[in-house]
Amino acid sequence: MLGVDRIEAYVSEARNRVRDSRARLEVGDACTLTWSSATCDVTVSGLVLNFVPDSDAMAREMVRVTRPGGKVAAYVWDYAGGMQMLRHFWDVAVELNPGDSRVDQAERFPLCQPDPLEQLFRRAGLISVSVRAIDVPTVFRDFEDYWRPFLGKQGAAPTYLASLPGGTRDRIRDVLKARLVATADGSIAMTARAWAVQGTATPNPSLHRTRSGGLRPPSRATGR
Ligand SMILES: C[S@@+](CC[C@H](N)C(=O)[O-])C[C@H]1O[C@@H](n2cnc3c(N)ncnc32)[C@H](O)[C@@H]1O
Repeated sequence: MLGVDRIEAYVSEARNRVRDSRARLEVGDACTLTWSSATCDVTVSGLVLNFVPDSDAMAREMVRVTRPGGKVAAYVWDYAGGMQMLRHFWDVAVELNPGDSRVDQAERFPLCQPDPLEQLFRRAGLISVSVRAIDVPTVFRDFEDYWRPFLGKQGAAPTYLASLPGGTRDRIRDVLKARLVATADGSIAMTARAWAVQGTATPNPSLHRTRSGGLRPPSRATGR
């Protein structure tokens, strides 16, 4: 969990980078958004859905703040396969340390697959739900260019690596280096795949939005 000071520092850095008077940056919990119901045309989450303690609550909140007919979308890394930079790392790390498979992000985040994402969005009351892959080429200059970010101690894989004895760290690096095939110029070409899910907030005004419960049909007694 980041401290408030760190979060404020990130936000102020982002404000400097964005420099667009139309953009407004606010800090908050994605599971209890502060915005009023049905006020957003499009609500998108980038690489967050699998990190919150309650993904259903987050999806319901995204739906609540979206206008009827508006779009709700999210993308997460395909840790189990197409996010190759991380997949190669965890394959080698778990091969050498089978007892650590529970920290592999593919194990920790079963949500990051097409079916669970689609089901999550359907449970949140969205219609016309679809999932597609977004593939981003990730080309590393050489092995060092690939390996250096893992030494940064930030994020799941670097934190795990930092927790290992030096010899084990070196062994993971050596196996990866032997396994990753470089092209003639020494570069290593990979793909980073994200799964992107999108749906439409129901345009049916007879469904009421609740802060915690997503969509609720009108009561029979009042019709409201
Ligand atoms: C992998 S990072 C992605 C950050 C950014 N979206 C990006 O693409 O670089 C995951 C982010 O989820 C945030 N996060 C975790 N739980 C959250 C919550 N309950 N509400 C809002 N953000 C949360 C973390 O602070 C972290 O910045």
